[in-house]
Amino acid sequence: MTAQLNPRGDVAVLVPAAGAGVRLGPGRPKALRLLAGEPLLVHAVRRLAAAASVHTIVVAAPIAEVAAVRELLAPIAPVTVVPGGAERQESVAAALAAVPAGPDIVLVHDAARALTPPALVESVAAAVRSGHDAVIPVLPVVDTIKEVDADELVLGTVDRRALRAVQTPQGFRRSVLAAAHAAAGDALTDDAGLVEKQGVPVFCVPGSDHALKITRPFDLALAEHLLATGLRTRTLDS
Ligand code: CTP
Ligand code: MG
Repeated sequence: MTAQLNPRGDVAVLVPAAGAGVRLGPGRPKALRLLAGEPLLVHAVRRLAAAASVHTIVVAAPIAEVAAVRELLAPIAPVTVVPGGAERQESVAAALAAVPAGPDIVLVHDAARALTPPALVESVAAAVRSGHDAVIPVLPVVDTIKEVDADELVLGTVDRRALRAVQTPQGFRRSVLAAAHAAAGDALTDDAGLVEKQGVPVFCVPGSDHALKITRPFDLALAEHLLATGLRTRTLDS
């Protein structure tokens, strides 16, 4: 049976969680690493399940961990767990194939963005609902950005006012994401990148500092601190 959260919700969330977490250092797959005593994936799914529009959550887990992930998430929320793939896009495609008939909006959300607020999930979904076929949460770029050559010599300074750092969840009209994945040829681009290649306009909404991607040990330490202080650190969205 397919898991449902809000049966009247119009949003399915795909959660790619099948990565190894090489940049986090040796250990279990990243989605199962502990943050304040609980796996990153538990933190992420709990917040997704708290978003009112979410009807279905499909997690793409590491192949060897599918049964363990099902057991782990059963007390948290009714989720569907499928085996992920070798590349993130394959994991997203596997999760997309498991979405039941019904939800017209599909969000793709990294398990590694474990502290993403439910309000961000709702704001991305709302922008799709209001007519944007593809929506990404973004933050301004704060550092000065230089373009360099192969010898680390600076070629020039990029105008950062026109740059955005992209987070997840990325949201799509379901038919648009399905078409982009059907045509996908580039395993390295994100989901919005696939949709861009189809000529679909991609709309930006304000992201959240709390939606940081836990990639390196520093990010995990930062996430521990944010949780320990009750996520009260001032952010752009507060
Ligand atoms: N992901 C996935 N399937 C893959 C690779 C990545 O589902 N084959 C997921 C990860 O689990 C993560 C998200 O995509 O939630 C973003 O990827 P990233 O932060 O790069 O995670 P990892 O690939 O696990 O980390 P690393 O690149 O350091 O190994
Ligand atoms: Mg990776």
